[in-house]
Amino acid sequence: MAINHPSFGTLDDDRIIFFDTTLRDGEQSPGFSMNLEEKLRMAEELAELGVDVIEAGFAIASPGDFESVQSIARKFAKDGPVIASLGRANPADILRSAEALKPAARKRIHIVLATSELHMRVKLRLTPEEVLDLTTSSVTLGRQHSDDVEWSAEDGSRSDPDFLCRCVEAAIKAGATTINIPDTVGYSMPEDMARIFRDLRNRVPGIEKVVLSAHNHNDLGMAVANTLAAIQAGVRQIESTINGIGERAGNASLEEVAMALRTRRDALPFRNNIQTPRILRTSKLLATITGFDVQPNKAVVGRNAFAHESGIHQDGVLKDASTYEIMTPESVGWTTNSLVLGKHSGRAAFRDKLKALGYGEIGDNALNDAFRRFKDIADRKKVVYDEDVAALVDDEVVRGND
Ligand code: KIV
Ligand code: ZN
Repeated sequence: MAINHPSFGTLDDDRIIFFDTTLRDGEQSPGFSMNLEEKLRMAEELAELGVDVIEAGFAIASPGDFESVQSIARKFAKDGPVIASLGRANPADILRSAEALKPAARKRIHIVLATSELHMRVKLRLTPEEVLDLTTSSVTLGRQHSDDVEWSAEDGSRSDPDFLCRCVEAAIKAGATTINIPDTVGYSMPEDMARIFRDLRNRVPGIEKVVLSAHNHNDLGMAVANTLAAIQAGVRQIESTINGIGERAGNASLEEVAMALRTRRDALPFRNNIQTPRILRTSKLLATITGFDVQPNKAVVGRNAFAHESGIHQDGVLKDASTYEIMTPESVGWTTNSLVLGKHSGRAAFRDKLKALGYGEIGDNALNDAFRRFKDIADRKKVVYDEDVAALVDDEVVRGND
């Protein structure tokens, strides 16, 4: 059923909203802080990428954070993505968010309040009834400053299901337009996620009028799987970060969720606004700004994501790339795949490399000898570079083989 949303108008049931928190949750991870200029550059790129909501920061956290949220809000004063600021469930945080967000054409006040027994008792030192009251009062205040209010149940996935339902009901009654259930410590498994959202949808009055949102951390490496399970259980907003950066092991990675949606339309028949050919560029911009490269085997954006070294794979890819690639490199911004020469490579890839290097005319004997010598080198080196191959073939030709 379609939802009438203050920022997005009519939201059909097959539309997924991408809420990006690279500049807030992502920036909270050790070593990933960004200055104002870098945040503005990143916000611009996220808008080009097509994210629907940019969480620009935690306005009350510091004067610098306030300035960042306000400057990003100014940047999108005429149009652009919804700009969000996070705050806790108290008037000072909410008013600070509201102030910083004022210039934005479309704004969202995001309120977080823990609902698990552990967090309420140890961290907040509040009773469940006090948390319920705070839910109502904070969302009510948020709505006085923005039509678009998101309420998040921190540690929601480890909260008592009955109590979580009561809190969500209170947040909706007070005017929340998005309900986010974070897996704050990355503890859940996909079936837990699905159960939580199905339970809320079955039990909470008014839930059909709000957007349900998932925010998954990656402590057990399941953030993306949990996000996809949440979508299948009715979630229509996903919270993620570029390159999966975020607290501890990070958040669900935007590029992986976006490409799962694009590649597995059979299981996930949903629409979204992400311009996937821009993904690599966005990923690289973040890596340059933060100084942290993604690991080579990172899905979608890692250096090896479209690289093939083994002879069997290279032979298949040379015949038809779909033998070993489930998405095209171009669909995420790479110009091409790469056949990396190493000890597992075969003659087909070696010949292909020679052609690419301009040695198309080399005879069979020279090719065979060069290939044998290449294998010797490959046993000693991790990767055989173009210069190594060129030197080796030049040597064969000089030696007059063929
Ligand atoms: O992980 C978390 O619980 C959060 C909330 C603030 C949404 O980041
Ligand atoms: Zn988080």
